[in-house]
Amino acid sequence: MTSEAKPKIILDCDPGVDDAIAIITASRWSEIVGITSVSGNVGIEHTTSNALKMKTLLGINAPLHSGASKPMKAEPFHASHVHGQTGLGDTDLPEPNSLPDSDDAVAFILEKTREEEGIHLVPIGPLTNIAQAIETDPSLVDRVASITLMGGGAGVGNVTPAAEFNIFADPEAADVVFRSGAQLHMLGLNLTHQVLMGSEHADYCYELNSTVGKTAGDLLSFNGRTHGTEKETNLGAMHDPCAVLAVTHPELFVSKPRSVVVELEGSFTRGQTLVDEREWLETEKNCNVYYEVNSEKVIELILQSVTEASPNG
Ligand code: RIB
Ligand code: CA
Repeated sequence: MTSEAKPKIILDCDPGVDDAIAIITASRWSEIVGITSVSGNVGIEHTTSNALKMKTLLGINAPLHSGASKPMKAEPFHASHVHGQTGLGDTDLPEPNSLPDSDDAVAFILEKTREEEGIHLVPIGPLTNIAQAIETDPSLVDRVASITLMGGGAGVGNVTPAAEFNIFADPEAADVVFRSGAQLHMLGLNLTHQVLMGSEHADYCYELNSTVGKTAGDLLSFNGRTHGTEKETNLGAMHDPCAVLAVTHPELFVSKPRSVVVELEGSFTRGQTLVDEREWLETEKNCNVYYEVNSEKVIELILQSVTEASPNG
């Protein structure tokens, strides 16, 4: 893919082990015009520092702007049991050699999307920054190419039986986004659980004998251990890179237009993305829900990102 053909994205993230793999993937297959951090897997200090570490590791020139330190209404909710205390598992990256370009992710998102047409917003953490940007300037949704998010799902959750982490962590923010009228693409757990990576992929990365390869190997191995669906193969779902690749390689996915609402009140279902699968109803279809993926090719592209980011790969 030549550089002029690469889709432009702003990656809104909460690194996060799979977010870090998504940054590697995005650096190869997209034109990253900005990275924004949000509180999610771990607190904003760590998500921001982790995004800076990945920027330094990969030599990404795009700016990084830190964002929301807490959800719009919910109490902060983290996932250090899945991503490690600092959020990047057991990687040993050096402290970042730069500071964020600002602490106002919302202002950056609004200004950058006024400057440049055709940017995809790719949120892969709680939707707090995106919701605040939309509330500040609702016309945002008309000037971005899409909002393509990892979150929610058409089926079971991972925090509760009904709710996925990114939505559960800030349901009010998700509600703003799903009601915004944006060109919305939802890659939820029903999709991302089809993309499983583990020991064999980590070993491939280690054998590249490079810093990026070792970092990716550590991340994939840690992800398998904490997400592990099958202990002996250390396989874990690789959620966030799917949202990036849905923008850069849409041919690898199948989605359907659906009506999706975010449950805010349910005693057992708060944070659920309720998908109306009843195709015979004339409901307003506010979201493209993703159902199928060419998992083998997605994994190949993720590993190719690691290889090509490794100078001696
Ligand atoms: O439920 C998976 C999502 O929650 C991923 O984005 C992961 O990084 C966590 O933020
Ligand atoms: Ca994430």
